[in-house]
Amino acid sequence: MDEADYSELQAEAAGVLERNNRGQWTIPAENLYPHQWLWDSCFIVLGLRHLDIERAKAEILHLLGGQWSNGMVPHMIFASGDQHRRDRELWRSYLSPYAPDHVYTSGLTQPPLLAEAVVRIGAKLDKTERRSWYGRVLPALVRYHQWLYTERDPHNEGLIVNIHPYETGLDNSPPWISILREHNFPLWIRFINKTRLEPVVNLLRRDIRYVPPGQRMSTIEAMAYFAALRRLRAKAYDSDKILSRSLFAVEDIVFNSIAVRANHLLKSIAKAVNKELPESLLDSFKKADGALDELWDAHSGQYYCRNFVTHKLIRESTIGTLMPLYAGTISKDRAAELVNLLKDGLSFGLKHPVPTVPKNSSYFNPVKYWQGPAWLNTNWMIVDGLKRYGYKQEAETIRSDSLELVKRHSCYEYFSPIDGAPAGAAGFSWTAAIVIDWLNT
Ligand code: GLC
Repeated sequence: MDEADYSELQAEAAGVLERNNRGQWTIPAENLYPHQWLWDSCFIVLGLRHLDIERAKAEILHLLGGQWSNGMVPHMIFASGDQHRRDRELWRSYLSPYAPDHVYTSGLTQPPLLAEAVVRIGAKLDKTERRSWYGRVLPALVRYHQWLYTERDPHNEGLIVNIHPYETGLDNSPPWISILREHNFPLWIRFINKTRLEPVVNLLRRDIRYVPPGQRMSTIEAMAYFAALRRLRAKAYDSDKILSRSLFAVEDIVFNSIAVRANHLLKSIAKAVNKELPESLLDSFKKADGALDELWDAHSGQYYCRNFVTHKLIRESTIGTLMPLYAGTISKDRAAELVNLLKDGLSFGLKHPVPTVPKNSSYFNPVKYWQGPAWLNTNWMIVDGLKRYGYKQEAETIRSDSLELVKRHSCYEYFSPIDGAPAGAAGFSWTAAIVIDWLNT
């Protein structure tokens, strides 16, 4: 790509972030995603920091403004306005005594990329400004990581448990769908199935009003997720009550790899401002480093998610198997095994890397979200991990192919790994932000 190409792409991506700007925060995309999402905002910051550092800081501070008093950072902060009342009422965060009074949020979290976003902002500041930025956000970050390990690692194993697919960010990834299929669908879902009420239910779904249904989850899956959400809401999002009897409780490999990386970054933030982290938290961090090994299956040579209740690996291969590269704590030999997998034409080594599900999985569908398409956010993490392990060329292949796809089709939510066809929402913020980051670093 020559210089002129770069500047057009950069301008287009900056335009997406400008249109999706809501003052103190950024929506992921017009119509389909009108609120603030945790990991979206962290990826958005990667680009914003090159354009407007104050806006990047504001994005994080607005996210932290929704933090619960128990430390949880919710996965969504709802936009105000009457048109969004139905979304807020769905979650009813006010049922929890820990939820903030001044803002409506969801009752779950999302992959903990906050420390990454904070450090990437820090990299654009001079030393004095960086210390002041770190000092400002450190207490909230420490409370968040404490919440992750006290509330969500009840057996003190170093692995965080997720209580709803939405928490993992990869909403309808195969491990979740396979758990869903193992359990009986609640009666009313079966009823919808039997009575062919599907068209009526579909009227209530916002996603398929804006994106072709074949690119989203099925109605039955969506209803099962909704039923799971209602169960959490009925327990006022109390982790103890939920974990004592839960159908969905998974130690997710993507979430835990991101947490491990975030733990290390949090230590570096604290060090930069001469603060000690609590001993109990450091103990959890140490356990977390080694605990990813519990998710390794030597037989197939892959990482998997684990069912929290049965302690069994859920042997469904996804992009999660590659995510320990981003965690950065696995051995060089193990990283080399993952790089082989990444290049294997039968699984992850497709024309447009990196598919979110390998081609040889029965779930693989090149345009169905989280079940095959390539996304820029997962690519960004893999590229970052590959570089830290010394795989510069492999990282560059993924980066340049992703930039080509966006240049050809513009800032879509995801792309077919087979022919690069764009899918999902148009004008998608994290796609734009990652393009800007890659063009400026
Ligand atoms: C979808 C994605 C999730 C993302 C959200 C907003 O739910 O699965 O990862 O955070 O959209 O973009």
